[in-house]
Amino acid sequence: MKNKTTVIGAGNVGATVAQRLAEKELCDVVLIDIVEGIPQGKSLDLAEAAPIEKHDARLCGTNDYEASKDSDIIIITAGIARKPGMSRDDLISTNAKIMKGVTEQVTKLSPDAIIIIVSNPLDAMCHIAFDTSGFPKNRVIGMAGVLDSARFRAFISMELDVSVENIHALVLGGHGDTMVPLPRFSTVAGIPITELMPRDRIDSLIKRTRNGGAEIVGYLKTGSAYYAPASAAVEMAESILKDKKKILPCAAYLEGEYGINNLFIGVPVKLGANGIEEIIQIDLTSDEDEALKNSAKAVEKLVADLKKLE
Ligand code: NAI
Ligand code: 2OP
Repeated sequence: MKNKTTVIGAGNVGATVAQRLAEKELCDVVLIDIVEGIPQGKSLDLAEAAPIEKHDARLCGTNDYEASKDSDIIIITAGIARKPGMSRDDLISTNAKIMKGVTEQVTKLSPDAIIIIVSNPLDAMCHIAFDTSGFPKNRVIGMAGVLDSARFRAFISMELDVSVENIHALVLGGHGDTMVPLPRFSTVAGIPITELMPRDRIDSLIKRTRNGGAEIVGYLKTGSAYYAPASAAVEMAESILKDKKKILPCAAYLEGEYGINNLFIGVPVKLGANGIEEIIQIDLTSDEDEALKNSAKAVEKLVADLKKLE
């Protein structure tokens, strides 16, 4: 196949990303993990499903980075995931070391790739990948807003009993408790949800969205969500590989946009063949702007914690 995507981390999210990329026949997939046997076994299993799923994507599982050479996209899911009682931020010291090592290895072999980061705490991990890779800011993108917005969309659909296909939603900010779901920009068939449900119901869906990751951890107990996170990362990869230029909320490095400087945070961006092709600036009300700035403060604190680890 023409395109090649390397997925680092063959755990729950990584393996599901590999599955969705292959089954949508978007690219060949290289799956890499530090544990011997896991990427080999999972990629072979996926390749054996190909005749039934009817795709010709080539899958390769390995512990050797050489196979990732000249990838178009690198999706980093390596790291540890949350267990009950842990916040995403509790993962910082372990995942910071993993992110630095992985980025060093993979970017040497694919200097022109676009990196999509999934590992948590997401916004902080984007800073590590950005600093370590030396890549321009359009080629380092964090996945969070697509997932958080999909959760908001799913909850709106459940509340109103309407098709998910009718629903758009926008969640900005950091991937944590301070994320900023925006009801004014969340619509059903173009109608803002503020016209369709009372404020207390919207508030309860916002609360559930903010708690969406923890809700799944509470059920699974041994790990965190992976089906929806994988779908979200693959939607981003698809927009890049097909140069679709979708507008999606992603963690992007801001230099003055939204009044925020030198920080990765979730904002609407245009994703195409060059990665982030535009940061879309929308006018926020003073309450929305305050919520975004508050979220930026939480991310700044995480980035400061990262510096203390160095
Ligand atoms: P998992 O534990 O199932 O898989 C992680 C994999 O990374 C394991 O197979 C492990 O062996 C591998 N790994 C660890 N160190 C490595 C290294 N140095 N090199 C290569 N591989 C390495 O975890 P899961 O559920 O797949 O989650 C992965 C990460 O994604 C976690 O940090 C999780 O918090 C994060 N996440 C982020 C989301 C987001 O919205 N940004 C959503 C869901 C998960
Ligand atoms: C989630 O939101 C754990 O960040 C992950 O499900």
